Amino acid sequence: MSVILRSRRIVARPWYFLRRLLTDSSAPPRTFPLTEPESDRVRDSSHALCVRKFQHITHGIPSMISVGEAELLLYLSALSDLQGDIVEVGSWLGKSTVHLARGCMISNNGVVHAIDTFKGNPGRERLYSSHLARGETMYDRFLKNLQLAGVERFVVPHQTNSSDARQLIREPVRMVFIDACHDYEAVRQDIQLWKDLVLPAGYLVLHDFSDAFPGAAAAVRESVLMSSQFSCILLLDALLVARRLAT
Ligand SMILES: C[S@@+](CC[C@H](N)C(=O)[O-])C[C@H]1O[C@@H](n2cnc3c(N)ncnc32)[C@H](O)[C@@H]1O
Repeated sequence: MSVILRSRRIVARPWYFLRRLLTDSSAPPRTFPLTEPESDRVRDSSHALCVRKFQHITHGIPSMISVGEAELLLYLSALSDLQGDIVEVGSWLGKSTVHLARGCMISNNGVVHAIDTFKGNPGRERLYSSHLARGETMYDRFLKNLQLAGVERFVVPHQTNSSDARQLIREPVRMVFIDACHDYEAVRQDIQLWKDLVLPAGYLVLHDFSDAFPGAAAAVRESVLMSSQFSCILLLDALLVARRLAT
């Protein structure tokens, strides 16, 4: 009798039984990626970096850069034909930093100098600290995120402003990535401060070249697009990549 009743219920509600069959599992909850060993987390069996896994691990780091922009930073850093370090102006919680640093790690080419006041953009400090736990500083979370991505050995943090950091970093670099304050004056100043440090054939990369930030876009247009020192080679979302001409 009960068999007949059960089979009638299956016929009446097939999706209910199918869903139960698919979701009833005695497997332990998935803890990926944090509990997996480093080698499994980021490398496949051919020892190449698995970019998708890396994206998965770093997915939770808050940021304003898109997935495509983050990947492009990694490729530029990993595939560079120049030797040298990278300068990043504006790291926040480290999303762009970890992608640049992973590129240094897999190509065994330099480190990332990560420059940030770790206070947030002037006037927007609350927005930048809204993801932090109680008592946690932006710098604490930045360091945690470097560890999460396994790249802390490839990052030299500079907890200071762009112009003070420029006094400390004197050696030419293979890439400068600028993503700090987006006002016209601030972007113009950052470009003037850092552009001459880029090696010939090195990259000057700028974020927020978009209509959403007219001041930043105007400064980039004047100081990079119209410059005879740089040639713009591509734009992905709001990430503009320029290359220094060999003069
Ligand atoms: C847009 S966020 C950077 C986002 C980051 N690149 C990412 O991928 O998530 C801008 C950062 O620039 C920093 N900043 C703003 N003005 C600065 C300055 N003059 N010197 C250094 N850092 C600055 C802020 O503290 C903030 O963390």
